[in-house]
Amino acid sequence: MTLLALETSCDETSAAVVRAGRVLANAVSSQIKLHAEYGGVVPELATREHLRNLMPVADAALNEAGVAPAELDAVAATQGPGLPSALMVGSKAAQAMAFVLRKPFVGIHHHEAHLYSPWISGDPLTADFDSIQPNVSLIVSGGHTMLVHVQAGLEHQLLGSTVDDAAGECFDKVAKLIGLSYPGGPALEKLAEGANASAFELPRPMLRDANDDFSFSGLKTSVRYLLRDHPEILEDRPRLRDLAASAQAAIVDVLATKTVRAAKRLGVGCVTASGGVTCNRMLREALAAACKKNALRLRLAEKSLCTDNAAMIGILAERKLMLRRPSTDPDADIIPNWPLDRVA
Ligand code: KG4
Ligand code: ZN
Repeated sequence: MTLLALETSCDETSAAVVRAGRVLANAVSSQIKLHAEYGGVVPELATREHLRNLMPVADAALNEAGVAPAELDAVAATQGPGLPSALMVGSKAAQAMAFVLRKPFVGIHHHEAHLYSPWISGDPLTADFDSIQPNVSLIVSGGHTMLVHVQAGLEHQLLGSTVDDAAGECFDKVAKLIGLSYPGGPALEKLAEGANASAFELPRPMLRDANDDFSFSGLKTSVRYLLRDHPEILEDRPRLRDLAASAQAAIVDVLATKTVRAAKRLGVGCVTASGGVTCNRMLREALAAACKKNALRLRLAEKSLCTDNAAMIGILAERKLMLRRPSTDPDADIIPNWPLDRVA
């Protein structure tokens, strides 16, 4: 089976071609530079950029894969959740393509695709659904932080999520407070390299709570008050680096501890992680150390698949068709606030 998949839920325009669990092409056009000027994603600008870039990106993916539109067996797209007008661009384009080709359209839940992205690896990137075992999956991006219990047969149950800021949002906001530009996560990681992560005692919100939810706005507020009371830190590069390292450690500590704790409680033997923040080296190392200590297997999404991409959308769509799940109504609407537990 050969599929074209489109992803336009936020600020990445992506198109991928997949066949028999393999990613033949995964083209991504990031809008990071465009939004950096505004310190965050501006939905109206994102949509215009998707409209401008989608067809060239889809063409690039088809060319790289050496696949002609007539060879496609289905067209998939992210149907939700995400920015409404941005979702509309990819979803409606995919439906139109499917209509013209007289092939099925598959609407995919963005986070469900993230859940399976850690199982796509190698060169060429290939999905390994056969080795999936029940796991606890951490999804950490700029918009979402959630823990999901993934069972056999594409079954999953949401365990908890953030009650306020997402982990990536916290990285971005703390980075902004210490004078770094958007997106702050990678910049903060770079600044923190080699610095003292225990120099500042910052809160680990909800770390000890007996649930799988997260909260990060208090951590950001602590950093704000600290800098209000000690503005001299902003002029002291070594102290600023220590503050960046301390904030990073606090976020990573909460994420890794709560993820592994949920896995132990549920008795699963495996942990996975995906989403933009999974690019963070300290998080990757903290999860690896905690999993090793608790004899848990760990699958981290490849760095190229941590951020939003159409490859994960296409891989999951093909899997669903192979499992004889019904395709999506060709004129189905986008679902901007689609809860993960409402996936058919
Ligand atoms: O998944 P993603 O590309 O987009 C969505 O939010 O959907 O994630 C972007 C988020 C941003 O908040 C960014 O600062 C964060 O992921 N991020 C990182 C790193 N790379 C990206 N945070 C910490 N360390 C990183 N290396
Ligand atoms: Zn995402």
